[in-house]
Amino acid sequence: MPLARSLSVTSLSGLEEWDEEFELEDAVLFEIAWEVANKVGGIYTVIQTKARLTAEEWGENYFLVGPYVESNVRTQVELIEPTNPVLKRTIDKMNSSGCKVYFGRWLIEGSPYVVLIDVGFTAWSLDRWKSELWDLGAIGVPWFDREANDAVLFGFLTAWLLGEFAAQSEEPPHIVAHFHEWLAGLGLVLCRKRQLPVATIFTTHATLLGRYLCAGSVDFYNNLSKIYHRYCLERAAAHCAHVFTTVSQITAIEAEHLLKRKPDIVTPNGLNVKKFSAMHEFQNLHAQSKSRIQEFVRGHFYGHLDFNLDKCLFLFIAGRYEFSNKGADIFLEALARLNYLLRCKKWNFRSCFVLLAGQPQDTAHTVKERFGKKLYESLLVGQLPDVAKMLDKEDFTIMKRAIFATQRQSQPPICTHNMLDDSSDPILNSVRRIGLFNSSADRVKIIFHPEFLSSTSPLLPMDYEEFVRGCHLGVFPSYYEPWGYTPAECTVMGIPSISTNLSGFGCFMEEHIADPSAYGIYILDRRYKGVDESCNQLTSFLFQFCKQSRRQRIIQRNRTERLSDLLDWRYLGRYYIAARHMALAKAFPDTFIYEPHEPSSATGFRYPRPASVPPSPSLSRHSSPHHSEAEEDEDERYDEDLEAEKDRVNIRQPYTATKNKTSANLEATCPIHNQ
Ligand code: UDP
Ligand code: G6P
Ligand code: GLC
Repeated sequence: MPLARSLSVTSLSGLEEWDEEFELEDAVLFEIAWEVANKVGGIYTVIQTKARLTAEEWGENYFLVGPYVESNVRTQVELIEPTNPVLKRTIDKMNSSGCKVYFGRWLIEGSPYVVLIDVGFTAWSLDRWKSELWDLGAIGVPWFDREANDAVLFGFLTAWLLGEFAAQSEEPPHIVAHFHEWLAGLGLVLCRKRQLPVATIFTTHATLLGRYLCAGSVDFYNNLSKIYHRYCLERAAAHCAHVFTTVSQITAIEAEHLLKRKPDIVTPNGLNVKKFSAMHEFQNLHAQSKSRIQEFVRGHFYGHLDFNLDKCLFLFIAGRYEFSNKGADIFLEALARLNYLLRCKKWNFRSCFVLLAGQPQDTAHTVKERFGKKLYESLLVGQLPDVAKMLDKEDFTIMKRAIFATQRQSQPPICTHNMLDDSSDPILNSVRRIGLFNSSADRVKIIFHPEFLSSTSPLLPMDYEEFVRGCHLGVFPSYYEPWGYTPAECTVMGIPSISTNLSGFGCFMEEHIADPSAYGIYILDRRYKGVDESCNQLTSFLFQFCKQSRRQRIIQRNRTERLSDLLDWRYLGRYYIAARHMALAKAFPDTFIYEPHEPSSATGFRYPRPASVPPSPSLSRHSSPHHSEAEEDEDERYDEDLEAEKDRVNIRQPYTATKNKTSANLEATCPIHNQ
């Protein structure tokens, strides 16, 4: 038996130190989620961005477990023979007993191993397993709930996998199994019921009841028949786990009330932050992506392009379609108010709200190609081109047609797609109610792209990351948001965002930054204010943002980007590490010891107020609408450098050195221990 090992969370000032002190050689980590190699929402982002760090720590002993979905596997996974002999025997045994289990490498950073289970292939066991579940805990899963049926199959199959792995091991193994969300939770319950030698962790990324209750009555009643048994599965997993975690303090409070277990530790979500060697690189990327969005908007508004695209700001909201939970309702209302303010004040700019978006045929490009071809052909035969013949009759016809086509009568459409449920769609209905129809008098224009973005889309061929980089402000005024990756992703790309004090991300940033809005992190109060008041505050954030000059936006983006260290898994990964060790110590007390650190009285680390001039419109010498853009452009690079230099000396990096004062301070505050 290996010697007892100890863990002190405060020793985690640097990940290297962790590796030296604690050997994990004989332990094996399985991380189980329905969103492994299967994108639905933010849980996919957790698993996918964390993979590199976890693979570095656990090496060959790290396996992600998810559902087998053929279309995903074709594009994301390289199927191979299992490398670990115990796992190979396990999978062979299951496959010879009526299962279909695949093994491969997920083609993402860190290339982690994945075990993918085809739940449909074992659907013949569903009734038997449901009846076992009923006997076990009186949880009855109705036949019509497809998602819950999948959860039952996935749960029994993952428990089978872990049990078989333990049975196939020669030495008694130390297995850690980390289950995410209720869809994977039943596997955990069965591990405990069967007394498998597995240290179990359950992370909930939301509570089912919380999400349904917050969504409002319509959603609640339409989903009543799906709620109770799912809730039972979630609650059982939370109670059976050796260690229970959730992604934010706010969801921890919710879990304590609705699941009746206080999380042992909060594990905030990180990102795999990539730093550019040149400091301005992310600013250049913004300019490049913005010009692609401008092209798209130019196409969408053809014939009505009566505004200066260069003075247009791109605001956006994006995510799964949960209309009020994600705050699309108050965003639209605030846009209507912003439109009114901009029209009254006659500000010399427009603001464009793009909910992702389409591209008409580019006539100018076609003519340019034809012109170039003729020029090239004449040079090939050694003659100077005859300019009079460069544009022929056909070219003139194409150009005239294009000019006539731009003189369309109808207003530019709101939506890029034809919607099947147009008359009941909540976004379209809201737009109708507030009357923002892209008329020429409107200073706020709207484009609604009712699909996730993709670089292969013929409408707007950009992936989500490129799109975010090209925008000016992400607006995520969520009411229900346990974490909220969308504003976090904006931050690491240096794009300011609006979130709320009801989102895990918003609360986390509020805790760690002295003056969040100076860094482009606007946090809306949706907790202590009524809807109308919150909406006014949102309008005021948007209006203030619109009043900034280009120079102020550049400075603000620099500040925003500087916060990325706080959201890096290299820093936040430590809470996952702590959770695993806590679980190992609970499951195998003879082998592992976990020593939680006493909370310190230190006040802890906060990003200070930026040292340089705040980017407030009133303080800027360029804030006047009369100041020329050319003058701004001339000054901006100098200002960026100056500002960056001033702030660099004031901001300490959270995770770099080991055992230095900074990291000690940070650890003292870091958020997060309840036990
Ligand atoms: N996302 C995306 N394409 C889009 C919109 C969103 O890939 O067009 C991703 C986004 O990058 C984020 C995730 O969807 O990682 C949403 O996660 P979040 O935590 O914000 O919300 P959830 O859907 O989990 O409630
Ligand atoms: C980046 C580029 C600048 C460009 C600016 C536009 O900072 O490096 O060259 O002028 O973006 O900023 P804006 O906020 O107007 O899109
Ligand atoms: C959930 C939440 C979201 C969170 C994500 C990842 O889906 O809705 O707020 O960011 O999980 O934890």
